[in-house]
Amino acid sequence: MLRTHNCGELRLQDVDKQVTLCGWVQRIRDKGGIMWIDLRDRYGLTQLIFKEGSTPEELLEKARTTGREYVIQALGKVEKRFSNNPKIPTGEIEILVKDINILNPSKVPPFIIEDETDGGEELRMKYRYLDLRRTPSRQNLELRHRLMQETRLYLNQLDFIEIETPILIKSTPEGARDFVVPSRVNPGEFYALPQSPQTFKQLLMVSGFDRYYQIVKCFRDEDLRADRQPEFTQIDCEMSFVEREDIIRTFEGLIKFLFKQIRGIELPDFPLMSFDEAVKDYGTDKPDTRFEMKLKHLDSAAQGKGFKVFDQAELVVGISVKGCAEYSRKQLDELTDWVKRPQIGAKGLVYVKYNSDGSFKSSVDKFYTSEDLKTWAKELEGKPGDLLLVLSGDKESTLFAMSELRLEMGKRLNLLDPKVFEPLWIVDFPLMEWDDKVQRFFAMHHPFTSPHKEDMNLLETDPGKARANAYDVVINGVELGGGSIRIHDRTIQEQMFKALGFSKEEAQSQFGFLMNAFEYGAPPHGGIAFGFDRLCAMLGGADSIREFIAFPKNNSGRDIMIDTPSPIHREQLDELHIKLKS
Ligand code: AMO
Repeated sequence: MLRTHNCGELRLQDVDKQVTLCGWVQRIRDKGGIMWIDLRDRYGLTQLIFKEGSTPEELLEKARTTGREYVIQALGKVEKRFSNNPKIPTGEIEILVKDINILNPSKVPPFIIEDETDGGEELRMKYRYLDLRRTPSRQNLELRHRLMQETRLYLNQLDFIEIETPILIKSTPEGARDFVVPSRVNPGEFYALPQSPQTFKQLLMVSGFDRYYQIVKCFRDEDLRADRQPEFTQIDCEMSFVEREDIIRTFEGLIKFLFKQIRGIELPDFPLMSFDEAVKDYGTDKPDTRFEMKLKHLDSAAQGKGFKVFDQAELVVGISVKGCAEYSRKQLDELTDWVKRPQIGAKGLVYVKYNSDGSFKSSVDKFYTSEDLKTWAKELEGKPGDLLLVLSGDKESTLFAMSELRLEMGKRLNLLDPKVFEPLWIVDFPLMEWDDKVQRFFAMHHPFTSPHKEDMNLLETDPGKARANAYDVVINGVELGGGSIRIHDRTIQEQMFKALGFSKEEAQSQFGFLMNAFEYGAPPHGGIAFGFDRLCAMLGGADSIREFIAFPKNNSGRDIMIDTPSPIHREQLDELHIKLKS
């Protein structure tokens, strides 16, 4: 070993020991006759000291030739410090250096490698290997590591077995877009990277493995956001001979265990909320229930009074924002601009100030009397001093915009306490959604989700009405995971594909392997998958999952460090039988 100790372990009881440390130069302070170097490694920081009288002149000169991020080896004696640094665990000692070896010099780094850095995200990601030397970044990956170990511990204890499934699989048109890989030896044919190991884990249940899990990379070619990466990690699980309640108990247990182990937090039991209730009260199937401010439909109270915008709308919906009746014209204009941003997509915003004296002032006074506005306030449970905000339009986009506006107002009023965690199970999703553009149903989760027992007949008669035996875990408005009880009967699976608009041949050619397997004794089964990166970010108290991924992609799906995606050579393309359009 090139060292006797690491940079985080020496304490007062080590005083007088001869030690050798290795690490990176974080900081140099040179006061002429005395000089300090902060030496850093993964375990911490140790102060090295060089002083005239004790340190030979040549050694001082040698130390002066080092710079930030040089890798050095330092030999010396542990001494008690003259003035302590209570901020670091090694703050009571320092090393009086006898000799140093420069193991490797460093160019001046492009940003400061300390807890607080001057590097923007782009620069930090380009030099991610330097960014990962910073304590906060390193701690994020340490948290990820611990979360992985604790997950395995919990699942192993319950007899789950970790099994790897293939990465080169078959492309299917369901779900998000696939990343595809051309096959050189099968001209014109492609593999797809898995969006999840869904069908494989079901086949493992047919094989009798009973309880499976995998901490696994998944790939989806979709639009990216702070909580979405093109390659991300799932805790993917499946169990046989279970019903919804068994899955809920087992995996609520996992999440509670992880919160306790990693953060020392005892989560309460997760209440169940139906999809319909979530959408009605919060406008979304991933509600942040840390605060109320529920959505209320105003259609009957607001329509038929001559205000065309509302009269023509499929939905008029409002919220009451506590204590904001004093909002100025400027603030209201700014809020209106906020809802009109393309990400939110509202056409405009109607406000009603419910003044403390009980009077009303609204942006639609021309159309509505005080009596009308009083009815709105009653519907929205507004009190004097509150600000009522109303949006209208088609149902889907208005609910989306209102749920975003609710969150924004929650943020502005400091109602999103980062120390509070409000978990929920969202249940009773619709099995399918109708897509008007392509005139067909799509599975809301995936086509292997079983309908509720009572809704089984609807598959043939009215599939749009069938509810799914599916469940999502939502905490503080983040969808952490989701799963379902599966179809394990060939006939029902065939009915499902039929309802989704597949011909018998299409279903057979794409999913025949699974349906065939169902004919050889498939047990009733169900499962769930958690977004591992999202779980890390939540437990680490951050919004962006990128900070918890060693080498993440940016919002355009690029890895700017290795500079990919990138063109490939003509010969490679030829070998893969790919012709690019010129
Ligand atoms: P689903 O598609 O809901 O279910 O994915 C499960 C969880 O994975 C996380 N997730 C993502 N995280 C980061 N980046 C992404 N692009 C991304 N996409 C999804 C979310 C999500 O809740 N096979 C089913 C599970 C099952 O039925 O067992 C599935 O993949 O946290």
